[in-house]
Amino acid sequence: MFLHGSISAPHPPFPGLRLSPGRAHGRQVAMAASSSRGGEGYPLTISDEKLESRGFAVRRGAEGLELEELNAVFVAVGFPRRDPERIRVALEHTEAVVWLEQRKTRRPVAFGRATGDGVFNAIIWDVVVDPSFQGIGLGKAVIERLLRELLGKGISNIALYSEPRVLGFYRPLGFVADPDGIRGMVYSRKHKKK
Ligand SMILES: CC(C)(COP(=O)(O)OP(=O)(O)OC[C@H]1O[C@@H](n2cnc3c(N)ncnc32)[C@H](O)[C@@H]1OP(=O)(O)O)[C@@H](O)C(=O)NCCC(=O)NCCS
Repeated sequence: MFLHGSISAPHPPFPGLRLSPGRAHGRQVAMAASSSRGGEGYPLTISDEKLESRGFAVRRGAEGLELEELNAVFVAVGFPRRDPERIRVALEHTEAVVWLEQRKTRRPVAFGRATGDGVFNAIIWDVVVDPSFQGIGLGKAVIERLLRELLGKGISNIALYSEPRVLGFYRPLGFVADPDGIRGMVYSRKHKKK
C-alpha cells in the first residue's frame, strides 16, 4: 500500500554479456546490454553486508521510500521535481526498484528503477546518487543490483538512456551504444513531420 507520501509497493562488464541496441537522442544516448546468464551469476562489486557496514541499507522495492525525499535527490542532481502522485503510479508499474538508505538519516541517497515486460525487455530509469554521496560506489551498487534482479528473472534485453557525460559510468557496467550498428529511436513530437 502507498501511504503518507511514502511507498509500499511490489515489489556489467560481466562475463557472458551480449550487448544490443542504442542511439543518440537529443542530449541522451540509448544504451543496451543483454546476457544469456542468469542474475545469480551477476557479480556484485560490493556486498549488501559491506554497504551496511558503511551505513547504507540496500532496499529492494519501493516500500518505505519517502517520495519527497526521493524528489529532493532528483532536484539535487538537476532533475525536475515531480508530482509525488505520478511518481507513486510510476513505481507501481515498475519492474525493479533498488535504493540505498543512509542508516543515520533514513533518507534515500541512491536510487534506480527499471520498467519492463517482465519477461524479455527492461529499461532502466532515474538513476541518481545524492551529490554528497557520489563517487563512493553507490551508483554502481544500484545498477549491479538492478541488473542482477532483471537477469535473475530471465530478462536479458536491458536498455537505458544516458546523458553523454555519464556514458563512462555505464560502459564498464556492460552497456554499449549502437551495438552491431543497431540504432535506438525515440518518438519526438518536435521532429514529427507534418
Ligand atoms: C551518474 C551517477 C549515478 C554515478 O553514481 P556514483 O555513485 O557517483 O558513481 P560510482 O561511485 O558508483 O562510480 C562507479 C564507477 O564509475 C565511475 N564514474 C562515475 N561517474 C562517472 C562519469 N560521469 N563518467 C565516467 N565514469 C564515472 C567512477 O569513477 C567509478 O569507477 P571505478 O569503479 O573504476 O572506481 C551519479 O553521479 C549521479 O547521480 N549523477 C547525476 C544524475 C545522473 O546523471 N544520472 C544518470 C542519468 S543518465
